[in-house]
Amino acid sequence: MKNTADHNSTINHNSTTDHNSTVNHNSTTDHNSTVNHNSTTARSFHQHQSQKSLLERPRRLRQSPAIRRAVRETRLNVSSLIYPVFVRYGQGIREEIPSMPGVYRYSVDMLRPVIEEMLLVGVEQVLLFGIIEDTAKDSVGSSAWDDRTPVQQAIRLIKSIAPELIVWADICLCEYTDHGHCGLLCHNDICDRTEIDNDSTLDCLARAALSCAAAGADGVAPSDMMDGRIGWLRQSLDQAGYTDRLIMAYSAKFASAFYGPFRDAAGSAPSFGDRRSYQMDPANGREAIRELRLDLEEGADIVMVKPAVPYQDIIRQAADISDRPVAAYHVSGEYSMIKAAARNGWIDEKRVVLESLLASQRAGASMLITYHALNVARWLVQQPDL
Ligand code: PBG
Repeated sequence: MKNTADHNSTINHNSTTDHNSTVNHNSTTDHNSTVNHNSTTARSFHQHQSQKSLLERPRRLRQSPAIRRAVRETRLNVSSLIYPVFVRYGQGIREEIPSMPGVYRYSVDMLRPVIEEMLLVGVEQVLLFGIIEDTAKDSVGSSAWDDRTPVQQAIRLIKSIAPELIVWADICLCEYTDHGHCGLLCHNDICDRTEIDNDSTLDCLARAALSCAAAGADGVAPSDMMDGRIGWLRQSLDQAGYTDRLIMAYSAKFASAFYGPFRDAAGSAPSFGDRRSYQMDPANGREAIRELRLDLEEGADIVMVKPAVPYQDIIRQAADISDRPVAAYHVSGEYSMIKAAARNGWIDEKRVVLESLLASQRAGASMLITYHALNVARWLVQQPDL
């Protein structure tokens, strides 16, 4: 047997006989190889003396760009993308977040170009986070339901410019409390320690959700991880007549180090302790299923897994148990790692971003929250086959 080498090789040389290469040359003699050597080794597949009767040849389905496109199982779609945007107090401000190059904090008056860009590239969903002055923060986060808070103003502005955009309001207290926790504090006298008071937090979250609904948000996305909040918010929204407003639940939200850059961006790091008594232990998969089931039972319209890439197993399981859409949040740390490596020339940013998002979609997420959303949309327009 001879010439098996060119049959499977993966190195491209200087011949022009490659039928399969993404770069097309002018000869068609080598039917199977992505690679070609010099013409002494290139020969027609049918002339091969070395053919074996293999039972399976998966490579048949990969032999040309057209076949690969025809059998592709998962495709990214601009309609799946949700773009997170930070809105802050002040005027005329557009400041880049140091740990998230390419991501900005905008004062509400500076939002218009962002909205216009979203419309231009076809991203139809925005997820709003609010940043207020430290002096406006208090122990219960009351700015969360203040109509003059940046998020509420931004909702109004977006709805006046582009009513067709889907506006999601992140619902949490950590950006508004002076202690930076996602819930209210209480003192446990027996253990003499400060804890998060689950049930009194629910009323504050409901007030925040109602305020955002009144401003015109299409949906609320509670990210606090208190028990029972989805049912509580659904009931509160319904009683106020907002039966049409969506709830996207941060259902399986892990206590993750990948949120680091976000906390810089939003100034929402806890001033003491951590979030492990409400966000989930990264070690726990079955517990994530419990959280997902509860949120579905309580009336979530969409369930979310967060972060995304390190939690693909959870996304898969969420898709298996949910009869509703699953969202994956590619969080700040995931964004910043890709940016940093790309800036150093260590990875190809576009391919890594698209591969990461594709992975979540393949795992079962049909909605993708990502700070790369506008770039992804541009890439998809340029090359829809990505
Ligand atoms: C607020 C909230 C956080 C994120 C989304 N909503 C931060 C946190 O829980 O500490 C993280 C988003 C990201 O990292 O991109 N609770």
